[in-house]
Amino acid sequence: MENLEKIVGDALQQFSRIDDATGLEQAKARFLGKAGALTNLLKGLGKLPADERRDAGSRINAAKDRLEAALAQRRDALAQVQLDARLAEEALDVTLPGRGAGRGRLHPLTRTQDRIEAIFRSIGFDIADGPEIETDWNNFTALNNPENHPARSMQDTFYVENKDADGRPLLLRTHTSPMQVRYARMWVEQFRHAAKVPPIKVIAPGRTYRVDSDATHSPMFHQVEGLWIDEDVSFADLKGVYTDFLRRFFETEELEVRFRPSFFPFTEPSAEIDMAFGAGPNKGQWLEISGAGQVHPTVIRNFGLDPEKYIGFAFGSGIERLAMLRYGIHDLRLFYDGDLRFLQQFA
Ligand code: PHE
Repeated sequence: MENLEKIVGDALQQFSRIDDATGLEQAKARFLGKAGALTNLLKGLGKLPADERRDAGSRINAAKDRLEAALAQRRDALAQVQLDARLAEEALDVTLPGRGAGRGRLHPLTRTQDRIEAIFRSIGFDIADGPEIETDWNNFTALNNPENHPARSMQDTFYVENKDADGRPLLLRTHTSPMQVRYARMWVEQFRHAAKVPPIKVIAPGRTYRVDSDATHSPMFHQVEGLWIDEDVSFADLKGVYTDFLRRFFETEELEVRFRPSFFPFTEPSAEIDMAFGAGPNKGQWLEISGAGQVHPTVIRNFGLDPEKYIGFAFGSGIERLAMLRYGIHDLRLFYDGDLRFLQQFA
């Protein structure tokens, strides 16, 4: 029993030196475990004379209680050290200035469309909007597109399964030109009782759809339709208005533009308007930006107007194409990838 004090002394010293939980549990086993020093003493009680047994037993149990208490204290201390370390590591400095919410910005195509609208509005054009799901009649028939024209084939157009209220086929508009029909007919209806139908002067920007996909085509893209109808609007006016628009859009007088003779069922004569890249990897390369022409007499009649009296021009331009030329972008698919490194360049 003389070594009871020594065992307790050793144990307390060891407990206080150990600074990890596993080590502490191992030390506990050395003193209080099945073959621990203190347990061995208890086991030896039987060999003691009966009169000493009781006193020795209670001293050993008191020592055991002391060690248990010391262990518990040490465990708490170690846990506290660990907690402090974690708190220090994960500390937040609440006095640091915030990073700020990232400021959003307009998509380059939205910016381009806004720019186009501002320019045409400034020269007296109205701005109209129409549905992306169109009737076959507005998209093709009213625009003098013959029933068997290849543009109507399933490969070129996204047809919609449902029909309209009159049982006519529906499709995703392949161009903004049906807006010529919608707007002109609405306009003519509005002035049904007037002595004269005032000039129709409108642009209609919006989404269009075709079965097409490469660096300069996407199945969904944007166009802006232009229409100016009056009693005396000529092809020269088309050239004047459009060239003026381009000069203002690109902020330069030095434009490389060409009007190339072409064909559209709804215009006669027709032209395609090309422009050369002034910058970027495609510098000097021509890109078609627009179809245009003098509105076909059949289409004027479908507007509800007399083609002997009313005449004018229309154009349909690719908004992506204009944006590509303005910013020197070589692949139109970049507009739809949603890559912030690309988008953030348009402040
Ligand atoms: N709608 C034609 C197209 O998408 C463009 C166009 C519009 C041509 C108006 C002439 C007049 O290709």
